[in-house]
Amino acid sequence: MNNFANRTVLITGASEGIGRALALQLAAQGARLALNARSAARLEETVRDCAAQGAQVLAIPGDVAQRQDCQRLIEATLARFGDLDVVVNNAGITMWSRFDAVQDFSVFERLLAVNYLGAMYVTAAALPHLKRSRGLIVAVASVAGLTGVPERTGYAASKHAMVGFFESLRIELLGSGVDVSIIAPDFVVSQIHRRAVGPDGKPLGQTPMQEARIMTAEECARLTVRAMQRRQRLAILSPRGRLGRWARLVAPHLTDRIAQRAIRDRH
Ligand SMILES: NC(=O)c1ccc[n+]([C@@H]2O[C@H](COP(=O)([O-])OP(=O)(O)OC[C@H]3O[C@@H](n4cnc5c(N)ncnc54)[C@H](OP(=O)(O)O)[C@@H]3O)[C@@H](O)[C@H]2O)c1
Repeated sequence: MNNFANRTVLITGASEGIGRALALQLAAQGARLALNARSAARLEETVRDCAAQGAQVLAIPGDVAQRQDCQRLIEATLARFGDLDVVVNNAGITMWSRFDAVQDFSVFERLLAVNYLGAMYVTAAALPHLKRSRGLIVAVASVAGLTGVPERTGYAASKHAMVGFFESLRIELLGSGVDVSIIAPDFVVSQIHRRAVGPDGKPLGQTPMQEARIMTAEECARLTVRAMQRRQRLAILSPRGRLGRWARLVAPHLTDRIAQRAIRDRH
């Protein structure tokens, strides 16, 4: 797939951040877009902006942590466009708290339900249609899916689960024509940091990140689209992430230091 003109692409978590930027870039290529997020009002803004670029766009509000919503996402996409070429599992949430400060453990369940089970449910419902189109599954994971990250024990666990699931599925799908691309962004400017769940189970309300020093959502989307075009198996989107991946094999304590410093310096 060199470009996505006339391809049907479903993106979860498309109302903000990386998902919204992806939707806009794929709209510019002429993709047919099925866009999901929970808030219908915020999703509508992305739909309007994609339609303004001439794209055919369908909004499907829903919570990926609810299995029946995931089934409905796929049914609505098929009903509108008749086929499905790409599923981008992007919807996600995060946390910000040392493990020994956590008071409300329900965040660990929610992280797994949205980041891992949500992606699994959407993929399960999409798979028969992707086999017909010899399509592509995209998993927007994280560098925290490849290594540990402090303040993010539950998030890293959910992203490791996601990576393990999609790595295994890729092997099961060998020869089927369906490919799996795992995307591992580093820090990206988006709403996720402000909404990160703190030790008391409540959103932080403001970003702890030094946003001027981290990747924009537009750049993250550009690199993700490039990986999708290449059907790349794993795209680690920062030099630090790529260094950490290799250092882990020969000097794992160096990877720990890189992750420790990233959180300490907040960029
Ligand atoms: N930003 C980073 O630093 C970073 C780094 C690595 C990986 N990532 C990953 O990139 C993905 C996108 O994150 P982002 O940074 O763009 O976050 P964001 O700005 O907070 O956007 C998250 C999107 O997901 C939607 N969403 C959240 N929970 C959902 C649910 N249960 N069902 C359906 N949609 C849901 C949100 O809309 P509603 O709230 O209306 O549902 C929103 O559209 C996530 O998987 C995240 O883990 C982000």
